[in-house]
Amino acid sequence: MRKPDPCVLVIFGASGDLTARKLIPALYEMRATGALPEKFKVLGVSRREKTDDAWRTELAVSVQQHAKRWDPVRWAEFAKCIHYFAGDAAQTAMYPGLQDRLRQFDESDGTKGNRLFYLSVGPELYESIVQRIEDAALVTEGKRWCSITPTERSWQRIIIEKPFGSDEKSAASLNRSLGRVFEEEDIYRIDHYLGKEVVQAMLVLRFANTIFEPVWNHRYIDHVQITATETVGVGNRTAFFDSTGAIRDMIQSHLLQIFAFVAMEPPTGMTAEDIRAEKIKTVRALRHTSPDDVATHAVLGQYAKGASEAAFVDLPGVAKGSTTETYAAIKLHVDNWRWAGTPFYFRTGKSMAKKRTEIVVQFKPPAANLFGGIPHTSGGVTGNRLVIEIAPAERTRLRFESKVPGTPMRISSIEMSADFDKQFGVEALEAYGPLLVDAMRGDQSLYKHRIEVESGWAAVMPFLDISSAGIRKSIASNYAPGSWGPAAADELMARDGRTWHNDE
Ligand code: BG6
Repeated sequence: MRKPDPCVLVIFGASGDLTARKLIPALYEMRATGALPEKFKVLGVSRREKTDDAWRTELAVSVQQHAKRWDPVRWAEFAKCIHYFAGDAAQTAMYPGLQDRLRQFDESDGTKGNRLFYLSVGPELYESIVQRIEDAALVTEGKRWCSITPTERSWQRIIIEKPFGSDEKSAASLNRSLGRVFEEEDIYRIDHYLGKEVVQAMLVLRFANTIFEPVWNHRYIDHVQITATETVGVGNRTAFFDSTGAIRDMIQSHLLQIFAFVAMEPPTGMTAEDIRAEKIKTVRALRHTSPDDVATHAVLGQYAKGASEAAFVDLPGVAKGSTTETYAAIKLHVDNWRWAGTPFYFRTGKSMAKKRTEIVVQFKPPAANLFGGIPHTSGGVTGNRLVIEIAPAERTRLRFESKVPGTPMRISSIEMSADFDKQFGVEALEAYGPLLVDAMRGDQSLYKHRIEVESGWAAVMPFLDISSAGIRKSIASNYAPGSWGPAAADELMARDGRTWHNDE
């Protein structure tokens, strides 16, 4: 595996929550595993005046709370590479000073002109910061194929947080703005779900075994459910959530990425290009639901008032009469040979019964049932089921039918279960860490391609645009907090002769 290059990670919007809660703790953990480059600097950029030391002290508090293990000596060592630069990233005036600071790092710390810009700012600032970076001539690699040899060449890459646009059009426009300054291979559209162990484990499960792939298609799989539910409400992100909603926040981004790994064809190899090529094809194959089908393919909801929590519509920051969904269940079809006729159900919600992120692959029942007349402890043979749990546990379970010992003959469904923690005895790392290191290594395998993002938007647009007006009309408080969502979501499944995987 390629080692990460020396570099400076420049975080725009460094005083935000993401830096303190996720990025710095993740980097601290990565340093402990020896995965960071030796010559490495973090430069946080934000408007407030602050010294390096003041920022380090603030970050130490957060790392103690959010990193897996706190070791003051290790932190003190790591904190030396963390620096702060006060300035307004949307203003041209800041950039000469920033450029000087970066050059100083190159001279004193051997960071070799390599820059990893991280946009951890409001999405409304993305395009202007990218333009400022270009105006300040901070990107030299864009003119990359000139003069120096690849090994000597410095690089400049950019990591962009979600939301990546708010619809198909704005995503395409953002992609164009980025593409005018950075090459696609230097644009890292981050999705923390792709840093979760299970996503890469999916590649291994599918393609390093022989027993799954031959049946991984519409002939054997009845349907797939991809669920990410949370018990928490929208918290204090009310205004953000009201302008975003569950489809944009979770389905278009995270759940479609999980989908891509579940549904993709085997890549030719394990390079980023090979993997991304297959993912693009898969996301592009998602059928664009016709406006007439929206009502039968989706259920949206908003959580009602609970014992200790106000109804979503009554929260400060949420517009009166808002029709933004805190819950969404969507059925999508994939128009390709592998999946024709096998629906994928996506489901996400706030204030739900359980925190659960999982993939359920429901196989069809056997072609002929020899056991119709034989008692079954749960009513009958229903088909194997593979459940890949991502959170709260990282575990894979396979349900299959077995004879109950003794006579007369009886059948029961039983499970084989593999728990990642127990099997390997290692805790999963904070998802951001390995992703950041990948960007320093120039590995885009776990980052989204431009076309994937735009195709993902295209697939969910019918549930967001005017075609969804009908299903938004009556969503106010249509599910109780702590429940599994609106009753209509169960009806959606029942119409298809299926049920959600809830309590087992
Ligand atoms: C974020 C969403 O991207 O993912 C949040 O904006 C959500 O609303 C979070 O809570 C869920 O992430 P995880 O890793 O806890 O499943």
